[in-house]
Amino acid sequence: MSFEKKICITGGAGFIGSHVVRLFVTKYPQYQIVNLDKLTYAGNLENLKDIENAPNYVFEKGDIVDENFVNQLFGKYQFDGVIHLAAESHVDRSITDPMAFVKTNVIGTCNLLNAAKTIWKDNKEGKRFYHVSTDEVYGELHNPEEFFLETTSYDPRSPYSASKASSDHFVRAYHNTYGLPILVSNCSNNYGPNHFPEKLIPLMINNIRNSKPLPVYGKGENVRDWLFVKDHARAIDVIFHEGTNGGTYNIGGNNEWKNIDLVHLLCDIMDQKLGKAAGTSRGLITYVKDRAGHDLRYAIDATKLMTELGWEPSVTFEQGLAQTVDWYFDNWDWIDNITSGSYEKYYQEMYEAS
Ligand code: NAD
Ligand code: DAU
Repeated sequence: MSFEKKICITGGAGFIGSHVVRLFVTKYPQYQIVNLDKLTYAGNLENLKDIENAPNYVFEKGDIVDENFVNQLFGKYQFDGVIHLAAESHVDRSITDPMAFVKTNVIGTCNLLNAAKTIWKDNKEGKRFYHVSTDEVYGELHNPEEFFLETTSYDPRSPYSASKASSDHFVRAYHNTYGLPILVSNCSNNYGPNHFPEKLIPLMINNIRNSKPLPVYGKGENVRDWLFVKDHARAIDVIFHEGTNGGTYNIGGNNEWKNIDLVHLLCDIMDQKLGKAAGTSRGLITYVKDRAGHDLRYAIDATKLMTELGWEPSVTFEQGLAQTVDWYFDNWDWIDNITSGSYEKYYQEMYEAS
């Protein structure tokens, strides 16, 4: 079968990556989509069960830190585009194990850049290396009137954001130095189906369901700007196809919530869904020690993406949160498999055997 384009999506078995893979596999049957993923604790092929047999979809298990593997894969497929999402993504883990973030987020990204540079050496026409990054590279905001712009100076403050900032710099350096065609986007906090339960929203949903304590860091005053994951995937699609070579685009939902207010909202939604008396789950809230170096507020100004490329979120927070909670109610097995660790073992054995 011949395809118009071959696109490598890294980290496609993770939370956001799986939504991007599904969107591209279903919307662009003329593209071959190769999902390159190591299947770390955060990677889960269950996320892609519905499209795993699509004729334009291939899964390649591998580690982006492994230079030989990456070079061989790029040599084999001769990709036309790369959408790079593979990363260590959890801030708390970066505080306990920063080197894992240096390896995957910095060295892994450089391996992909080198491989793309090699295969596109003689023809860069129509090629795209799209690096998916985060708003955390801009640091934290204190003035409520301020927002992150594409021109905001970098000021990463956690090992996670420092590793992402470093990878962003390498991507832009390869554009400037070698003429590699690149795109970078910096997005705010995502939520939605398949969100790994170490992150705030799914952790709270699962703990409320199990009547377990709801750990709120510090005073719960920190602010995050939440975007529905499918709207992030739609933005990636638009930027990949229509973004200006070398460009940076901020992506955000214009939807700021103080953590404690969001946890209250989740408690109230869950009480209603579970048929519990109003206010029951708020009693589970437990204030715990703050995250080290906890950034106060993130808020994205996505005007450039909205005006230049016509993107806007497709759902309100109310709609997105309702869809998310409904998805978890329909998929408790998904979260139970993760928290029991059985899926990880199952797929490791399956791929070792094949
Ligand atoms: P995730 O942790 O859910 O998924 C990461 C995926 O990368 C997993 O499937 C994992 O197996 C894979 N992976 C990790 N290390 C790898 C390696 N060495 N080689 C190959 N694959 C590897 O992450 P996510 O939340 O979906 O985030 C995806 C990307 O989007 C990341 O680059 C992250 O920095 C960025 N981002 C995330 C958010 C968010 O709110 N989650 C917001 C903005 C940007
Ligand atoms: O801003 C984009 C970033 O959003 C992404 O780049 C990261 O990959 C992603 O993990 C996310 O980072 P955060 O640190 O903002 O997300 P997290 O869900 O871990 O935490 C959200 C907020 O909730 C943060 O202020 C810390 C707080 N929190 C988190 C957890 C897990 C709690 O109060 N209690 C918790 O148990």
